[in-house]
Amino acid sequence: MTVKTERDETRQRMRAVVYGRYGPPEVLRLEDVERPVPNPDEVLVRVRATSVTRTDTGLRSAEHFISRFFTGLRRPKRTIAGMELAGEVEAVGCDVTEFRVGDRVFGIKSFGANAEFVSVRESGVLAHLPAGMPFEEAAAVPDGAITAMAMLRDADLRKGRSILVYGASGSIGTAAVQLARHLGARVTAVCSAENVELVRSLGADEVVDYLQEDFTKNGERYDVVFDAVGKHSFLRCRASLKPSGTYIGTDLGFLWQLPLLALATRWIGERKAKLGIARYTKKDLRFLAELIEAGAYRAVIDRSYPLEDVVAATQYVETGQKTGNVVLTLGRDPR
Ligand SMILES: NC(=O)c1ccc[n+]([C@@H]2O[C@H](COP(=O)([O-])OP(=O)(O)OC[C@H]3O[C@@H](n4cnc5c(N)ncnc54)[C@H](OP(=O)(O)O)[C@@H]3O)[C@@H](O)[C@H]2O)c1
Repeated sequence: MTVKTERDETRQRMRAVVYGRYGPPEVLRLEDVERPVPNPDEVLVRVRATSVTRTDTGLRSAEHFISRFFTGLRRPKRTIAGMELAGEVEAVGCDVTEFRVGDRVFGIKSFGANAEFVSVRESGVLAHLPAGMPFEEAAAVPDGAITAMAMLRDADLRKGRSILVYGASGSIGTAAVQLARHLGARVTAVCSAENVELVRSLGADEVVDYLQEDFTKNGERYDVVFDAVGKHSFLRCRASLKPSGTYIGTDLGFLWQLPLLALATRWIGERKAKLGIARYTKKDLRFLAELIEAGAYRAVIDRSYPLEDVVAATQYVETGQKTGNVVLTLGRDPR
């Protein structure tokens, strides 16, 4: 299949969720914008499902001013929201060899996935959908799972090692429980009562309801404490780490303490603190697809909204109480 290069093709329109300024969820609007035309090394995907992630909400609100250094100081440079996508290949550039028109794919595009069409580089974070997986489920996988994978990579999880996942019911948390379990570690999950059964079904060996019990006071010690929701701290759970244990957090913490502690604990003390950084790679996405096909990983979806209801979906994500992931759908899965 060749690239569509005619001028009238470049003028085709599509619906997309856009925001022209930073602010609350209400700055998001569904608009008609120019449809992307794939470059020779790109794949044009007709998006069937996408999502609203905590990263999307952070970039749109610019609640941490530092994010504006990457996204635009006064107003967003990239105006289409969203990063996760699942859909069908609509067209491919002339240099593309891995994908063909009609292939079912999923992946991540740093900006612009809340749209009817997205073009992604063939070498980007895009892979074939696991066999039999609906688009809606596939769109709920890449961000949380690849983030958890990247953050846990240096934790040396394996049989005989133990991990406590704090915030085990969130997007990153539900992924971390499944991945740690897959690696053979003993998993303790911390969440509220209503999510206990869910995280147990994902593979947690023990579950602690944080409203009933403070895990830092029960005398248990872990090789790794993974704060998957940025609500705990190295200092508060230090005693729950084994002497050579590691605390990994997803967020900077009060007064940006985590990067400072990460620096300090490189030289001082045996227990280490680390700030987890998301790194999205095609290799990790392919690995996930294999895990899903093997039945070792599944998508956790809290709610699905049609694309038109992106503001309501975003408001829900911003409660900080979603379970797993929130998906946006674009039409019905044609399968
Ligand atoms: N460093 C990076 O590169 C990076 C990348 C992406 C995201 N992040 C950060 O990672 C964090 C997690 O993202 P996410 O999408 O996984 O979160 P999320 O899905 O929004 O997390 C929601 C879950 O957190 C649980 N929760 C809320 N308050 C809690 C508390 N005080 N204690 C324990 N659990 C609590 C809730 O469950 P209950 O019902 O059990 O309370 C809910 O299920 C966010 O802060 C995000 O900014 C960092």
